[in-house]
Amino acid sequence: MADYWMEWASLLLRWLHVITAIAWIGSSFYFVWLDLSLRKAERLPEGVHGESWSVHGGGFYHVQKYLVAPETMPKELHWFKYESYFTWVSGFSLLVVTYYWGAQAFLIDSSVADLSVLQAVGLSLGSLALGWVIYDGVCKTPAGKDLRLLGILVYAVVVLAAYGYSEVFSSRAALLHVGAMVATWMTGNVFFIIIPNQKKVVASLKQGEIPDPALGQQAKQRSTHNNYLTLPVLFMMLSNHYPMTFVGDDLWILVALVVLIGAIIRDYFNAGHAGATGLRVRWQWPVASALIVTLAVWAKPTTVALDASQMIKDSDVEIIVSTHCTVCHAARPTMPGFSIPPKGVVLETLADVQKYKQQVYAQSIASQAMPLGNMTQMTPGERAILGRWLETH
Ligand code: HEC
Repeated sequence: MADYWMEWASLLLRWLHVITAIAWIGSSFYFVWLDLSLRKAERLPEGVHGESWSVHGGGFYHVQKYLVAPETMPKELHWFKYESYFTWVSGFSLLVVTYYWGAQAFLIDSSVADLSVLQAVGLSLGSLALGWVIYDGVCKTPAGKDLRLLGILVYAVVVLAAYGYSEVFSSRAALLHVGAMVATWMTGNVFFIIIPNQKKVVASLKQGEIPDPALGQQAKQRSTHNNYLTLPVLFMMLSNHYPMTFVGDDLWILVALVVLIGAIIRDYFNAGHAGATGLRVRWQWPVASALIVTLAVWAKPTTVALDASQMIKDSDVEIIVSTHCTVCHAARPTMPGFSIPPKGVVLETLADVQKYKQQVYAQSIASQAMPLGNMTQMTPGERAILGRWLETH
């Protein structure tokens, strides 16, 4: 029964998470665009760095950016922060419901590391906190002054974290944790750096003092990271539904490519918004496309080769499925902890298998996502037989 309510909690949290993430990313993309589309004009008021005109929803908008601040503070000042905070809170709650509540099924893979639930949850929480401390520390070293060097260091931390996670968690959980760790940095940047720095600037302006320019520079450094990390994080979050991305030990290679691809695509938009032309906006799509193809070809699993003449009997497949799938995927599952067939997928007969052909192929042949955590210890040979049967039926 508890599982039933957890499914509702999961659905509602996912709904909230997607809504808040759209609001956060939407406003942050808008402000990046706005910043880069500002142009100088004649007769701009004192202190205005540039202006931008746009049309939307039947009206015209005229925005001007004051590099430091206007002479007098406006009565009402809008802040953008709750989108980010609620994205983190809803995402973390979803992590708890999916991966901590269902730790045995989703977080732990005893063939990777034989962890207890407490150890696994402790590792997850500890690594998210430690990840922030390391990232924030790296940004505050002298290397942080050089955005490019810092970018390389942050990239290395992400790839290393991917390696670390793949050594302790199930492949699916490992990839999600890299995404969760980076997303935690992004909200941490808003919560611990960008908003507090902005508050300090406003406070000193109100007292008639000149704000410390380092505050603005630090906020800029972090918001640049947030900008380039957005697309890779979204990929990692969605990858959970695509088992071909659960590449086990090689996770660091996948993450290294995904971060690069996401950042390159983002760079295309940044450069375009700033009015760049020529090679500056022509290199990104060809390079990103080549990397995506490389990733897809590389991630393609190799299955055990069967003798071409080997006949596959229906009864062989029936045995494989009933041994390895039906325990959970039945109208009344016999596997302890399962009260309903997961995702409504019932695999009791060969007709059922045929009905879910594409999904079964994706979960058990093109990847080893199923049987879940390979709890029933399905062998590569059995996968090959099931795969051949699916290809020929
Ligand atoms: C230990 C229990 C268990 C076993 C054994 C198991 N599954 Fe699953 N299966 C699950 C769970 C849990 C989910 C839901 C995963 C999720 O929420 O993303 C699932 C989901 C699925 C899905 C739907 C995926 C989707 O999101 O569309 C398919 C298809 C599937 N399993 C096929 C299989 C096949 C084929 C086997 C046998 C080779 C198998 N499963 C063995 C627990 C199991």
